[in-house]
Amino acid sequence: MDHFLYRNGILHAEDVPLPQIAADVGTPFYVYSAATLTRHYQLFKEALDGIPNLVCYAMKSNSNQAVLKLLADLGAGMDVVSGGEYLRAKAAGVPGDRIVFSGVGKTRAEMELALGGGVRQVNVESEPELELLGQVAVSMEKTVPITIRVNPDVDAKTHAKIATGKSENKFGIPIARAREIFGRAASTPGVQVIGIDVHIGSQLTDLAPFEAAYLKVAELTHRLREDGHDIKRLDLGGGLGIPYARSNEAPPLPMDYGALIKRTVGDLGVEVEIEPGRLISGNAGLMIAAVIYVKQGEGRDFLILDAAMNDLIRPAMYDAYHDIVPVAEPEPGAEQAPYDIVGPVCESGDTFTKQRDMPPLTAGDLVAFRSAGAYGAVMSSEYNTRPLIPEVLVKGDHFAVIRPRPAIDEIINRDIVPEWL
Ligand code: LLP
Repeated sequence: MDHFLYRNGILHAEDVPLPQIAADVGTPFYVYSAATLTRHYQLFKEALDGIPNLVCYAMKSNSNQAVLKLLADLGAGMDVVSGGEYLRAKAAGVPGDRIVFSGVGKTRAEMELALGGGVRQVNVESEPELELLGQVAVSMEKTVPITIRVNPDVDAKTHAKIATGKSENKFGIPIARAREIFGRAASTPGVQVIGIDVHIGSQLTDLAPFEAAYLKVAELTHRLREDGHDIKRLDLGGGLGIPYARSNEAPPLPMDYGALIKRTVGDLGVEVEIEPGRLISGNAGLMIAAVIYVKQGEGRDFLILDAAMNDLIRPAMYDAYHDIVPVAEPEPGAEQAPYDIVGPVCESGDTFTKQRDMPPLTAGDLVAFRSAGAYGAVMSSEYNTRPLIPEVLVKGDHFAVIRPRPAIDEIINRDIVPEWL
């Protein structure tokens, strides 16, 4: 469910008509709904009700300060994967004891940052990382709580570029070696083993891979306890998928996912953490673009938009599907025609979709890309010297720019021409 609905023939973000925002900030832009973000966070809280839990929003999906503050104020924890994200979480007011530090390549500087500012736990992903973290903690005269991320060798049945739980992926330690490596961690000064971490991939549309992974983690919990480890926390990762196409079958709901968690690990007497990103922010955002030209090509027509692959890279990178709808609702029964919908960037990969049926559109018309709140703005670039597009947050009948569009001069002036040139 989201809060982007047609009213009187115009697509709204909550109570704000999108053409009003377009007139104010120009196109293209991202727009997020506060009510949808809130609702999605609460769905997870409701789903995990009854077991001790912390929902740690995976801020890599959308890390705007306003989005973080909204979720932090609701009580969310944060899953961070870099020093930059750690500082962003802190800047949004998230206390250290609600920040989980994930990632396969943490540097010494990042460890020092997290230990200095406070961290709920570090999710360790390898033996060399364990060793370095221990050294850093000892040198800072601290003991850092850790989980160790296991790679359960489960096929998440998602796009290969976002699957993380197979043994060939770079993530986690092989589950078969877990007892040995947990043993090593127990005798590593500076770290305190408190639990197990697992994350098998993103945009999962079936619960079976989660179930397979969580059962392995439950089994491992028993074995590690037999070995004398005090396993009191399980970080079960993120990854629950969202519906990208309204016509398709909907993926499982957070409530079903919560029931699965309770069924698989609920009787272990552990505290559960989850790290959802996409499900919280994905359908809470749209990207709005305007049509620049309708171009007749050889045997196909193109809708050339003012947004491009640098603004929303998911179609080019993962062949991802996004619903694209006109902001002005088409008349019922309006005739549709197939278009290739493209941006102005100078490569053919700058194609959002091919031969998509669309109602009649002309230059200046606005279109909305749905499900663009996650991995949209955060993955954008300035390729072709196209400024990062603004982000707007809507709450009820008001909206605010939460990241402005930079002037081209700001971009040019970041470069430095050496005086000796
Ligand atoms: N936890 C860890 C350790 C992760 O690596 C990720 C995502 C998440 C949580 C959040 O997963 P989510 O709930 O959002 O599925 N750029 C790609 C997605 C990359 C996901 C990377 N890791 C895309 O646009 O589809």
